Amino acid sequence: MDALNSMNEIAKGNQTITLKLGRSIIQPEMGIVEIRGILKTICNRLGFPELDIIKILTAASEITRNIHDPTSNGTVIYEIAEEKGNKGLKLTFNNTGGAVPALDEKLSKKHRSREDSGSPLSGAKKLVDMFFINPMGEQGTAITVMKWLNSNIVLSDDLIEQLRLDIAQISDKSTIETLKTQNREILELLDELRQKYQQLEESNTQLTKVNEQLEILNVELEKRTEALKVAHEQMMRQEKLAAIGKLAGSVGHELRNPLGVITNSIYYLGLKFPVTDEKVKKHLKIIQDESAKANKIISELLDFARSKPDKLVSIELCQLIKDSLEQIQKPENITLNLCFEQDMPCIKVDPRKMLQVFQNIITNAYQAMPDGGTLSIQARNDAGEIEVGFKDTGIGIPPENLSRLFEPLFSTKIKGVGLGLSIAKEIVEQYKGTIEIESEVDVGSTVIVKLPCNV
Ligand SMILES: Nc1ncnc2c1ncn2[C@@H]1O[C@H](COP(=O)(O)OP(=O)(O)OP(=O)(O)O)[C@@H](O)[C@H]1O
Ligand SMILES: [Mg+2]
Repeated sequence: MDALNSMNEIAKGNQTITLKLGRSIIQPEMGIVEIRGILKTICNRLGFPELDIIKILTAASEITRNIHDPTSNGTVIYEIAEEKGNKGLKLTFNNTGGAVPALDEKLSKKHRSREDSGSPLSGAKKLVDMFFINPMGEQGTAITVMKWLNSNIVLSDDLIEQLRLDIAQISDKSTIETLKTQNREILELLDELRQKYQQLEESNTQLTKVNEQLEILNVELEKRTEALKVAHEQMMRQEKLAAIGKLAGSVGHELRNPLGVITNSIYYLGLKFPVTDEKVKKHLKIIQDESAKANKIISELLDFARSKPDKLVSIELCQLIKDSLEQIQKPENITLNLCFEQDMPCIKVDPRKMLQVFQNIITNAYQAMPDGGTLSIQARNDAGEIEVGFKDTGIGIPPENLSRLFEPLFSTKIKGVGLGLSIAKEIVEQYKGTIEIESEVDVGSTVIVKLPCNV
């Protein structure tokens, strides 16, 4: 270290001066080439013979090749120094990228340089007059070499100034070149990025388009699935209704006669043995009432089974609703609330069938309000479609039953058959209309029937 420090200064007369010429950066690319250029210029100015110049350049090349990591920077310091009474060109190579791997090996004769094309460091050592290594561990390694100057060279201030200028100019040029190269690379990179961005944008646009098409297809698919579901439900309902109709027809017919016999016999017994006992009287009345009810159910089933051909009549629906209401006994605790739009258009239907639709709906509403309530019926003409709403304040329908209401034989009532709504739907759809139910438990239900006027 002492030897190195002393070399930074030159004795000039009694004074000690330092002749630092300059410094340049070794870059991963082009570094050695630039340094060789600088060295060639200053060696020529210092009057080194041709052979010495070649030796200095070769040593510099070998040292930079051996101590510098090709991916990191380093420096070269150019100085004129005096050592052991000799003045010489002093070059200090510093690498900043940590310790030089296998330094000892590189100093041995056996080692080949990284590119396997030059001599090892030991070869460079022979080309110069002095050679020092200062390994600084993780901070890097410094290699200093000296080549003695021709004894008759005059180190004038002008010459020193000129040398400094040479180093500065070439280094500056090299820095500008490097910056230009880096700039060019950045621009190329930017261009590549721009292209990639454009490609991504295009892919994105295509993806958005595909996505939109998929969404359209999905909506279409959902519509078709829904239509299929409706068609399937309708088919199932019709098949079930047809089977029930057939069964009801034959069973109803067979039951009608025995029922008639029961009713007649009761009547006969009443005439023959006038009853005074209240309890017996009450039970005879029960038999009579229930027989009459059974007879009514059978009549309805037979009606349904026979499905007589339509007798189409042009009629005002509101009148039919009023007729339906008249034919069903309204419980006293229920209030009726009618709101019919004026001058409703007539529609062509079989009045018996539409009566049955309204009666089934009204009966359900009454049955849903065992403790009383209000049934509001509204009818209006909605752009060529008649809309009738039956709104009750009854028990409501639990959500899980909503989808099953129109299934034949679905009933939650002890004495219910479960045909009222499925028959109503069948008839309404026959006239190209719709029937829907909205409901909330403990609040009430609303049945909405819509029928086009031009059927
Ligand atoms: N207004 C309503 N409020 C509450 N529940 C209703 C109403 N209308 C229909 N329902 C429910 O729908 C089911 C099916 O009704 P639907 O009229 O088809 O059969 P039902 O009334 O049970 O028997 P029926 O064949 O004698 O009419 C009913 O059992 C009932 O649970
Ligand atoms: Mg019913």
